[in-house]
Amino acid sequence: MTNNDTARPFRAAVIGCGWIGAGTARDPATVGVQSHAEAYASHPHVTLAGVADADLARATNAAAQFGPCEASDNPAAMLETSRPEIVSICTPDESHAAMLRLALAQPATRAVLMEKPLAMNVAEARDLVDEARQRGVLLVVNYSRRFCPAFRRLRNELQSGVFGRVQQIHGYYGKGIIHNGTHWIDLLRHLTGGIEQASALTAVKPDPWTPSAQFLCAGGVPATLQALDHTAFTLFEMDIVGTAGRVRVLDGGHRIQRYRTVKSPLYTGYVNLDGGQTEEGCLKDAMLHAVGDLISCLTGESAQPACAGEDAVACLETAAAILPAA
Ligand SMILES: NC(=O)c1ccc[n+]([C@@H]2O[C@H](COP(=O)([O-])OP(=O)(O)OC[C@H]3O[C@@H](n4cnc5c(N)ncnc54)[C@H](O)[C@@H]3O)[C@@H](O)[C@H]2O)c1
Repeated sequence: MTNNDTARPFRAAVIGCGWIGAGTARDPATVGVQSHAEAYASHPHVTLAGVADADLARATNAAAQFGPCEASDNPAAMLETSRPEIVSICTPDESHAAMLRLALAQPATRAVLMEKPLAMNVAEARDLVDEARQRGVLLVVNYSRRFCPAFRRLRNELQSGVFGRVQQIHGYYGKGIIHNGTHWIDLLRHLTGGIEQASALTAVKPDPWTPSAQFLCAGGVPATLQALDHTAFTLFEMDIVGTAGRVRVLDGGHRIQRYRTVKSPLYTGYVNLDGGQTEEGCLKDAMLHAVGDLISCLTGESAQPACAGEDAVACLETAAAILPAA
């Protein structure tokens, strides 16, 4: 199959048509474009050429909703027939490495948009990054906040000292240090400029894969991450306290609250924080931003993606320092 559509020059395929692959558009609560298939169908330079899922009905539904395109229950056969330049991998965590090798083996592949985590351990992740580099394939990993303008603005504010010197960072997560913890680790890397040390805090551990942790970030900034039982409710937050204000990343990143210092209304000569200002919709169209970032690398507008394979390796290295089994 060849692509004759010059208006949409890039052909894309999605492997795994569940929630993040193709399902979010069915949820009326979803804010903007949050699935890979919808992002490719929405991007002006991309044609969705194929979808695959072990459950053929899911692939067929995705093809009907975001195609028309090839639908298969066999990812290798779908890639062989539809010959995409861009492949999204949206299957469960344990299968990411095998699916990436499948995509890298196809001569047509120029870029892969991987769901996180890149792999289940550091050694395999490093190996995959090396293989992608050797084959000249661009590897982008969907630690989604990095692609959103709201989080770029926040990083710039922190780096330019809008909130003063960062004193402490604290947060909450659940559902595994590799699965969801690496999202928090990546956000910490993104906002602080890097993590220099990480170790487990073993006192609170809702399950063996979900330890609490402490970090030392660039510039000596300390951070702590509290593990919670995700079966009770979902909480993913980061609270950054500086000497001139405070920032809270709430609702998994959908909201950012900024507080500035003010004269205390209660005690003369004291300084407090104000009531805070909330920025909403910070993750709106997260997947469209990720696909746009990838396309800008393929067209040469950007030199490197906002979140590359090396970033995903660094996240797994930090996770492994916290939980050696990672
Ligand atoms: N970046 C983010 O914010 C974010 C959000 C949600 C999920 N994710 C990641 O995306 C991945 C998928 O999560 P989900 O919530 O969409 O899961 P899901 O269970 O809804 O979807 C996974 C799909 O993969 C299919 N599948 C499983 N094995 C397969 C195989 N061997 N070949 C083809 N299809 C196969 C399943 O049938 C299912 O439809 C996970 O790795 C998860 O960590 C990332």
